[in-house]
Parts: sequence; structure tokens; C-alpha cells
Amino acid sequence: MPAQRQFSTRRLLPFALLGVLAALSGCATEWDSAVVFPASYSSTYEKLHDCKASAHPAAKYVVTWMSPEAKDAMDALAALPAGSTETIAWPENAVFVKVQYDDSACSEVQSFTAMKKLAAGAATDAGDWKWQHVGADGECLNCDNGTACSGCHTQPACNGLVCTKRN
Ligand code: HEC
Repeated sequence: MPAQRQFSTRRLLPFALLGVLAALSGCATEWDSAVVFPASYSSTYEKLHDCKASAHPAAKYVVTWMSPEAKDAMDALAALPAGSTETIAWPENAVFVKVQYDDSACSEVQSFTAMKKLAAGAATDAGDWKWQHVGADGECLNCDNGTACSGCHTQPACNGLVCTKRN
């Protein structure tokens, strides 16, 4: 029955087009499930500082964000008297994300580095943090960088391997 076949093809066409669109947009915004921070970090995390020049080896300009799990420890750190040598422990699952940019206005994300606090003893050689380098679309460039990153984060200005303070 040609008339009926034509009808059902027409009815399915919008769904077929939707499927193609979904596949295409899925490609462009793929967020790797191994990445320790969500694509929505800018609405769910706290911004620690505005766009600034970086001392980091792989970035020109940066903005750093902190997950809700890190907040209480960051508050305690900020409350220490100036010059205090006391350290504050970071809770498991605390995440810091440094968003890296090439331009001084921080307008286009170049890539991310991120660190997530693991259970005590989970990665002792890397300070019990998971260290990641992530592409601008959320793809893992190296989602388990370990000691390649942690060694440099032991500088005196860093607390429990976190170097950025709230400001
Ligand atoms: C040569 C030293 C060095 C190396 C290597 C390094 N970092 Fe950093 N990192 C820093 C410094 C210094 C900061 C403080 C912010 C700034 O100046 O950019 C920082 C900040 C960060 C932050 C924000 C939280 C914090 O600690 O301040 C993250 C997340 C981070 N680095 C992840 C990484 C990852 C992941 C790697 C490996 C791919 C890495 N870092 C390698 C020096 C280093």
C-alpha cells in the first residue's frame, strides 16, 4: 500500500533528524566519565579568584574553582593567622579545577587541570590526590597524571598540596 508507506515515512522523518542532531551535539560536548569535575562546574563550584596570570607551567592565564566538599577546609585555612605554619587536611572528594586560558580576558578555555582528594592510602606517592589534565571539551588528555604533577605542589605556599587560596 504505497499511500500508507509514504505516510509512515513522513511521520518518522522528524525523529530520524532528531537522532542525527543528538549524535552530532553529543560528539561536540563529550564529557569523559573519568573526569573528576562536572561540565557544570561554573554553576556548582565556588570560584576562588578571577582571571589572573599563572605561575603554572602549562597555562598563561587561569581561573580556579573549588567543589562544595572543599569549602569547610578552605574556610578553616583562611581563618588561620597570617604566617601560621598549621596545615588543614582536605576531605575525601574535595576537587580543585584550574581552568586554563591563552588570553588575558580568560574568554576561551584552552584546557583544564584538576585534582581530587582520594581516600587515605589510595595514592600515597601522589599525596592521595587524583591528578588530571583535561581538554576544553571534557576529554581526558591524561586523567591519571600522578607524581608528574604532585611533586611540584609540595612548595611551602601550598597546603596539603593545594597552592591556591581564596581571594
Ligand atoms: C612546576 C610546578 C607545577 C607542576 C608540575 C604542576 N603544578 Fe599545578 N599548580 C602549581 C602552582 C604554582 C599552582 C598555583 C596556581 C598558579 O599559580 O597557577 C598550581 C595550581 C594547581 C591547581 C589549582 C589548585 C591549587 O593547588 O592551587 C590544580 C588543580 C593543579 N595545579 C593541577 C595540576 C595538575 C593536574 C598537574 C599535572 C598535569 C599540575 N598541577 C602540575 C604548580 C605546578
